[in-house]
Amino acid sequence: MTKRIRKAVFPVAGLGTRFLPATKAIPKEMLTIVDRPVVQHVIDEARAAGIEHFVFITGRNKAVIEDHFDLAYELDDTLRKRNKVKELEALLADLPPAGATSFTRQQAPLGLGHAVWCARDIIGDDEPFALLLPDMLHHTHGKGCLAEMIDAYNKHGGNHIAVAPVPDDQTHQYGIVGVENREAKVSKVTKMVEKPAKGTAPSNLHITGRYILQPTIFNLLANQEPGAGGEIQLTDSMIALSRLEPFHAVRFDGDIYDTGSKIGFLTANIAYALDRSDLGPQIRQEIERLLDR
Ligand code: UTP
Repeated sequence: MTKRIRKAVFPVAGLGTRFLPATKAIPKEMLTIVDRPVVQHVIDEARAAGIEHFVFITGRNKAVIEDHFDLAYELDDTLRKRNKVKELEALLADLPPAGATSFTRQQAPLGLGHAVWCARDIIGDDEPFALLLPDMLHHTHGKGCLAEMIDAYNKHGGNHIAVAPVPDDQTHQYGIVGVENREAKVSKVTKMVEKPAKGTAPSNLHITGRYILQPTIFNLLANQEPGAGGEIQLTDSMIALSRLEPFHAVRFDGDIYDTGSKIGFLTANIAYALDRSDLGPQIRQEIERLLDR
């Protein structure tokens, strides 16, 4: 019997330097994709997958994320008095229940691996957990990425990562995995490497930012030496973990947007707007008008 995945970790302590000056005072996770903050889209994915507790690894300048996931008493009261029932109901539906969120500070942005390690006491040492990088949006019209991974986990147990193909000439920019069966939706990981030198990648499948990890990862992270960029790299500890425990890759077939990059952010806004019945037809017209100029 596998243990149920109840908790998910959201590291939001990065500085977002690729998106300055927008991120000088606003966390990149609060920039909006259409009318919802980036981080709200990722919480939606986690809730749809059955996650019950949401652990945020935050830093200075990120307090507004905590406010976003709290009741906004004055706003709610005003909406109620103005009879804006639909808007109020939508706000309340987005809110995780009381006591279902935890916030802890990373203190210094020492790397993603260090951010995940900061969740060790909240997660504890006897249950696996999900990890979602909030700036990576996984867009699909089917089942959400994390929900697919939890299905795979329920079948195989162990550790899981979501993967997707990148062009062969870009593999050196990503964490890359080799798998037993390239065609399968879920396959055993045979190799894992962070930013392989050109021409040495075991495949073109990159790690997309969704993970299910056993708590063993915390002991490995505690002793992890800084890696690429002088940061404590999660992939380095996952490579060590893959020598101890099984790892599966779950291929994600939807679209992935890195909203921490300008192009990813802009494209995500267009893609999500085109999908909306209230905005899609109009935004399509506007895009066509701009392209015709
Ligand atoms: P990124 O490298 O994409 O985020 O980290 P960043 O450092 O904010 O971005 P740039 O390169 O400066 O623009 C991936 C994820 O890990 C988190 C980030 O918030 C992001 O969700 N992270 C990264 C931390 O929480 N702490 C860190 O020390 C580093």
